[in-house]
Amino acid sequence: MRVIVGFGGGIAAYKATSLLRLFSKDGHDVVAMPTPSALEFVGQPTLEALSGNPVSSSVFERVEEVNHVRQAELADLVVVAPATADLMARLAMGRANDLLSATILTTHAPVVLAPAMHTQMWEHPATQANVATLREFGYHVLDPAVGRLTGPDSGSGRMPEPEEIFGFAMSVKDSSQKDEKKTLQGRSVVITAGGTREPLDPVRYLGNRSSGKQGVALAEAARALGADVTLIHAHMEVPAPDGVRCVFASSAEELRNAVLENVADKDVLIMAAAVADFRPASYEEYKIKKSETDDAAPTISLVRNPDILREVVSLREQQPELAPETIVGFAAETGSATQSVLELGEAKLRRKKCDYLAINEVGEQRGFGADDNHLTVLAATAEPAQVYQGSKYDVAKALLLHVMRP
Ligand code: C5P
Repeated sequence: MRVIVGFGGGIAAYKATSLLRLFSKDGHDVVAMPTPSALEFVGQPTLEALSGNPVSSSVFERVEEVNHVRQAELADLVVVAPATADLMARLAMGRANDLLSATILTTHAPVVLAPAMHTQMWEHPATQANVATLREFGYHVLDPAVGRLTGPDSGSGRMPEPEEIFGFAMSVKDSSQKDEKKTLQGRSVVITAGGTREPLDPVRYLGNRSSGKQGVALAEAARALGADVTLIHAHMEVPAPDGVRCVFASSAEELRNAVLENVADKDVLIMAAAVADFRPASYEEYKIKKSETDDAAPTISLVRNPDILREVVSLREQQPELAPETIVGFAAETGSATQSVLELGEAKLRRKKCDYLAINEVGEQRGFGADDNHLTVLAATAEPAQVYQGSKYDVAKALLLHVMRP
């Protein structure tokens, strides 16, 4: 598994470095994530050498990868040692002003905190209230040990020994895995995600605003539920997750081919990708140039792309062995002057003839790129519509459990 070991800025950080060794010796992929003040106590090269991975403490590094989201999504477990009073106060407030706090605010992985501070700081009502809040969030906060502190005095607030933190964190992970029942073990799902790009010339394309977040959340949730997952993805703002089979397809036509090659014998296809309905009628081999002599602009003619969803539905009618058992479409709707989002969705479900249509209302503030979603799932049968609201991961899990129920 992939473990993030977070370090708060306290003297116990030097001792906590041995956690990196304990996790990597146990066969895990370890990422060290210090707060900027932890780097006053332990150096970046030490953390990189012990973890075998690059180390960063700021959200302003590796910005192009949206590193806090990437790290949060890849992590199976987050362990913070030492969790200082200040770091816990920031986490209790939901602050995200460094890479570690931003990652913790984003992750779905279990979070273990091993506090270390002076007794008075630990016993202060502010710290006690923050610990209570963190426990309410579901974080696992160890009680500090009693013993010698940084100065000559001793008392409660000493960081538990790294071996104890390691053992506790592993038991937290084991019980969280038991909670996440492998309900979809032995089932297979193909998910499409992201937005296609329809090339105009070697440098230009027609694209759309899909971030790929909902499709990636579906792939992650399906993996966590034990399914065999194929993610066919076009262009996305988020990285494809580990532990799933990934196929990249840039344009609608490439995506169509990838879908047809991968759906035979699969239990479910979920078409969450934003596939362009049209593409330029012709592709210019060389970059289209503007005229130096007049202001004329080229006219772009478009042709229809194949509707992949409909094609898979007809394939299932003709050659069921080449098609998935259940087919789920997505519809991003804005509503119109005369019809509601739901009415448009119902008409689309009838047209597309898929088994389920997950409708999300999109607009400037909703849907695209957001971390939360609101889905209404319509079924081709008479069963009532289901409404799911929450993080894209929680919505994904609910949708999967609904459409893949035995
Ligand atoms: O018709 P509309 O584009 O709104 O339908 C959306 C659904 O159809 C999505 O599931 C999308 O992945 C799928 N689709 C497709 N092929 C297209 C366009 C959309 O499979 N050319």
